[in-house]
Amino acid sequence: MDRIRIIGGRPLNGTIQISGAKNAALPLMIASLLTDQMLVLENVPRLADVAQLQRILNNHGVDVMVGGKRPGESTYDGQTLLLSAARIVDTTAPYELVSRMRASFWVLAPLLARMGEAKVSLPGGCAIGTRPVDLLLMAMERLGAEIEIDGGYVVARAPNGLRGGEIVFPKVTVGGTHVALMAAALAQGATVIENAAREPEIVDLADCLNKMGAKIEGAGSARITVEGVSRLNGARHRVVADRIETGTYAMAVAMTGGDVTLQGAQAGLLQSALDVIGQTGADVTATNEGIRVARNGGGIRPVEVTTDPFPGFPTDLQAQLMALVSRASGISKITESIFENRFMHVQELARLGARISLDGDTATIEGVSRLKGAPVMATDLRASVSLVIAALAAEGETMVNRVYHLDRGFERLEDKLTACGASVERLSG
Ligand code: EPU
Repeated sequence: MDRIRIIGGRPLNGTIQISGAKNAALPLMIASLLTDQMLVLENVPRLADVAQLQRILNNHGVDVMVGGKRPGESTYDGQTLLLSAARIVDTTAPYELVSRMRASFWVLAPLLARMGEAKVSLPGGCAIGTRPVDLLLMAMERLGAEIEIDGGYVVARAPNGLRGGEIVFPKVTVGGTHVALMAAALAQGATVIENAAREPEIVDLADCLNKMGAKIEGAGSARITVEGVSRLNGARHRVVADRIETGTYAMAVAMTGGDVTLQGAQAGLLQSALDVIGQTGADVTATNEGIRVARNGGGIRPVEVTTDPFPGFPTDLQAQLMALVSRASGISKITESIFENRFMHVQELARLGARISLDGDTATIEGVSRLKGAPVMATDLRASVSLVIAALAAEGETMVNRVYHLDRGFERLEDKLTACGASVERLSG
């Protein structure tokens, strides 16, 4: 298993190219199941989760080709995927594949909408909490699907096709909104989705579906309406910039000091996080190129933050913020309102010298003046990267073990940080 060795204490200076968003690329790839024509996705990040989803889609009969580089593309552009689901050969998504990546459960919706049936393994537990799928199943039922659980599988049927309906989510769910959109796009009649997730990745999926011929209005608001169509076409779509990668590198600079331009980043995708980073004392400026983050000299100020669905502060940046304020001059409080048990990084940050106490869903972080390198273990994707940014600001050497979590969600992390002056080295085996 690969490890990453980081020698901390160096400021970050330079430019980091922001990749396409993992959490947009995954549902967009899944949307290829909705049409027998080709869906071309540009700016898809080269990540382990993307490769894993390619395998899952292959299993259903989707042909995935990786497009060549075009003149004018820089080496840092993401890959272009050409996905063609001309014929669906299998409507079952087996446990071995789904249990490795939760988002693959979402294939349920397009398979059901296009083929009238799907059998998808329940995803099982994950490191950040129980994460049930009851609301996703409720949404499919509201569109007329019959659902039963058999041998750990969700067996869903709609022999006469799905029909539009009213879906009212009692709780904001990103995955629930993605599957509702995909299924409603091909249902007969109109669907209204109330209390829909407003995340930029939802807007990106809706934009792509509309290019494919869907009739979706209101994506980005809490009420989305979908007028079902009988078939969808191919399209070409560019994956939106990764707001979590953006926020992660912004917090790294806010922590180490220095001056970095996050090229291709879009401030509007993470304004609440940028406001918090500003409160900690970093200068954050939206530019023509992206976002510039700098902190020169001044200390890190403490903050009080609660994670919330978009446009609130994202849960996917909670661990990184905790790393940042572990060196603040004063006491910070971070409350996690989305996932229970998303505090696996606390014990590992403590190994670097952070002082954090937990009470239910709230962490109290007493800032310390210095962190010291240590061997640490990554537990989930965002927890892992919080250890990386803490290590960049710690004295001496930190060895981050189990880095496969990082490879699931951060494209060329070592290259991007090294190019800005960090000492980050991957050790194989
Ligand atoms: N929930 C239910 N029932 C459901 C679905 C969700 O109770 O049927 C609960 C969850 O347990 C959680 C809350 O609703 O408490 C929100 O979950 P949501 O459905 O929004 O999460 P998700 O769709 O499974 C996506 C991202 C996560 C991100 C969350 C929240 C992808 C592939 N995953 O997950 O990203 O944290 O939204 O923004 O888009 C990550 O990238 O590291 C990651 C975990």
